[in-house]
Amino acid sequence: MSSKRRPQIYNTVDDLRRFLNQTRQQGHTIGFVPTMGSLHQGHLDLVHKASELADIVVVSIFVNPMQFGPHEDFDAYPRTLDSDCDALSDYRCDAVFAPTVREIYPKGVNTEIDVPGLSTILCGHHRPGHFKGVATVVTKLLNIVQPEVAVFGNKDYQQLQVIRTLVTDLLIPVEIVGADTTRERSGLAMSSRNAYLSATERETASLLYASLQAIGDALQNDHQVTATLKHQREHLAAAGFVIDYLEIRDANDLSRSYVESETAVILVAAKLGQARLIDNLVVSLASR
Ligand code: PAF
Repeated sequence: MSSKRRPQIYNTVDDLRRFLNQTRQQGHTIGFVPTMGSLHQGHLDLVHKASELADIVVVSIFVNPMQFGPHEDFDAYPRTLDSDCDALSDYRCDAVFAPTVREIYPKGVNTEIDVPGLSTILCGHHRPGHFKGVATVVTKLLNIVQPEVAVFGNKDYQQLQVIRTLVTDLLIPVEIVGADTTRERSGLAMSSRNAYLSATERETASLLYASLQAIGDALQNDHQVTATLKHQREHLAAAGFVIDYLEIRDANDLSRSYVESETAVILVAAKLGQARLIDNLVVSLASR
């Protein structure tokens, strides 16, 4: 951590580009952390990571309408730019890019970035169009900022795979770094949507990570994996979760055939009260 300095806020692409061009002329590298704001420690850890990897850190704060379904929480999503900038003052963040929807979609949505396959399974199945919205906005943001490195949370595991795929396919010259999930002491993965949980729900929510760990142990010991999965699904449902999915997949391509792979990932998405929570656990199968 460095001494407190509020980041400069840029609302337009032109203003941000002007700043970034000067920065590049001075020979500085650029690290980028795209966010939707309502920053918590998990985001701040991504910012810290970016500051270790680049000279200048840019954080975008943009609640992207294109990645929300018609009945999702776009309107309710917390917008806290002022306190976000306060929180960023404790970290090395040089610029916050906080554009309007019009700035990012000046003529609406005419071009979409789609990563088929990866985008229609798991969360993509339950949130049709979500990853098209993520892929499109991330491509735009990478075009605007043109960073050397961009840092995303491993918590959004499927999102990270979609982004890695589009960056490779579209030959975007950026290094994508996945950073560890920051957890509450209870194990609950930090998320802006945790704000929707009541105090009791917050306690219940920590069961998600405990379930992932129980399945992870079964996987690593190659012992009663199917029975453990079934048991954990029932256990979470009994605690009040409405499960969208709780599955084991190949960590590289998210296919169902994880058995032969070196690394598996257990992924969960479940609703608890007003909150839809996601989490995952990567498990090495090499030593089985
Ligand atoms: O993970 C998020 O907060 C968003 O999906 C992202 C990557 C900022 C795109 O809007």
